Amino acid sequence: MKGVILAGGTGSRLFPLTKITNKHLLPVYNKPMIYYPIETLVNAGITDILIVTGGNHAGEFLPLLGNGSEFGLKHLNYTYQARAGGIAEALGLAEHFIDNDKVVVMLGDNVIEGNICAAVRAFEKQERGAKILLKEVDNPKEYGVAELSGDRIVRIEEKPAEPKSNLAVIGIYMYDRDVFDIIKTLKPSRRGELEITDVNNAYIARGTMTYDILQGWWGDCGESIDALLRVSNLVAQTGANKMDL
Ligand code: G1P
Repeated sequence: MKGVILAGGTGSRLFPLTKITNKHLLPVYNKPMIYYPIETLVNAGITDILIVTGGNHAGEFLPLLGNGSEFGLKHLNYTYQARAGGIAEALGLAEHFIDNDKVVVMLGDNVIEGNICAAVRAFEKQERGAKILLKEVDNPKEYGVAELSGDRIVRIEEKPAEPKSNLAVIGIYMYDRDVFDIIKTLKPSRRGELEITDVNNAYIARGTMTYDILQGWWGDCGESIDALLRVSNLVAQTGANKMDL
């Protein structure tokens, strides 16, 4: 299983903080944001990691992360997204890196209290398809939201005006190699991006999407300045990426 961390984008919801740096280099309590998703993947046993970044500050990732020795890694891979074309477009750049393997994709601004070890082990055994993680939230309109029928996930709506549940799709996605064929069929959404929600709905339509509910808190630091503060406070209070949760 390989890992991809998506760390591009303009970070416009965090302006002016992101005018002079990449969002994922901003501090979350005592570490740069990008440290948290790297730790999440490494904790789940994923050591072959590609970081996709972009924009004017991509060069700053190299002196910060180097070859990942701080995380116990021997090497880190990097690639560059030339324009902010969405999460699914960024993932498309990882095709040659994933080759015939499976992949865990994590958004570089997502931070979790616990770990994804059980979900990753389950996905290793899953013959094909995809797996996502859901988390109950108070403000589902800000996220991709899952519609369930009994235990089955029937659809995901991106930032719905009238959410069908309070289960947000968090920014950790597991895919088989078919994901790259699906990405090639996508059309840009109204915001001009290739949406990860369209990828997930394609797997749901094929009947090969599974899901787990995430234990512990989850935060999307890129959502707003308030979210960034909230996650920093959560990290300060409880710590992140705990293995015993
Ligand atoms: C993205 C996804 C959304 C998901 C969220 C999780 O939204 O499009 O489905 O719930 O990440 O962090 P974005 O934060 O890019 O608007």
